[in-house]
Amino acid sequence: YPLRDRTPGPSRISVVAHRGASEDAPEHTLAAYRRAIEDGADALECDVRLTADGHLVCVHDRRVNRTSNGRGAVSALELADLAALDFGSWKEDEDTAGEAPDRQHEDPERTSVLTLERLLELVADAGRRVELAIETKHPTRWAGQVEERLVALLTRFGHTKASADGPPAVRVMSFSARSLHRVRAAAPDIPGVYLMQFLTPRHRDGRLPPGVGIAGPGVRILRAHPEYVAKAHRAGHQVHVWTVNDEADVELCERLGVDAIITNRPKQVRAQLGLD
Ligand code: G3P
Ligand code: CA
Repeated sequence: YPLRDRTPGPSRISVVAHRGASEDAPEHTLAAYRRAIEDGADALECDVRLTADGHLVCVHDRRVNRTSNGRGAVSALELADLAALDFGSWKEDEDTAGEAPDRQHEDPERTSVLTLERLLELVADAGRRVELAIETKHPTRWAGQVEERLVALLTRFGHTKASADGPPAVRVMSFSARSLHRVRAAAPDIPGVYLMQFLTPRHRDGRLPPGVGIAGPGVRILRAHPEYVAKAHRAGHQVHVWTVNDEADVELCERLGVDAIITNRPKQVRAQLGLD
C-alpha cells in the first residue's frame, strides 16, 4: 500500500468518517453516511456483521440493543427482523435529553438498518472518489463466512482489483489478523488494516502481521507511544488512527504525520486540518 505523499504543501491526511458522521446522525445509518459525504470525508468507516439469513449489515455491537428498539444478537436475526426495528430514535433521545424530540426519527434514512450493499451503492453514486474502510467484527458463529460474503459483494461492485488509479477504493480492517488473512487469500489487492487497541511488544517496532500493509492504532497508543508512527512508516506501513474526536488528538496526529484520521466529526476535523 503506497505511503502517503509527504511533499511540502497542504495537509494530505485522509479524513475517515467513523460509522458515518456519527456525532450528527445515528451511527451506521444512510443519513450518517450521506452527511459524511456532504461534509467532505475522504472515506467512510463501517462495521459489518452477518445476519441469520446471510446478509452483511452495518452494525457495531454484537447485539442490536444499544442502537435500536429491539433486542438480540444480529447473527440470530434475519434481515426482515432488523428492517422492522428503529435504529435512529435512541440517538435523538440522547441528543435531545428530555426536550421534545424534533421528529427526525420519521425519516427512514435515519432509522432503517443499513446493508453493506446499500452503502456500496451510496458510494458508487457519490460523484467523487469516496473510499470505504470496512471492519469485520470477530465472527465466532460465522467463522470465515463474513469474509467470504464480503469478498463476493466487493467483487460484484468491482472493488477487489487495483487499477491504474491505485489500490481499490475499499480496504478491510480488523482486530483479527486471521480475518485479514482470509480476505487477503481471496482478494490479495484489497488493502488490510490491522487494528490495535494496545501496542503489544510484538508490534512495538512498527511491524505488522505478514501481508498486512496498514497499521490501525487507537489514538491512546499514540498518546503513550508517539514514536510508533515513525516506526511504522520506517517499516513501510501507513498509519490510520481511531477514533480521533478531540482537537488535541487531531493536533497530535497531524504533528506525528499519520496518514488517516478516523473520526465521528469529519467536518470539524477537516476544518481543523485546514482542508475546507
Ligand atoms: O476504526 C476502527 C475502530 O472503529 C475500531 O473500534 O469499536 O469503534 O469498531 P470500534
Ligand atoms: Ca469499527
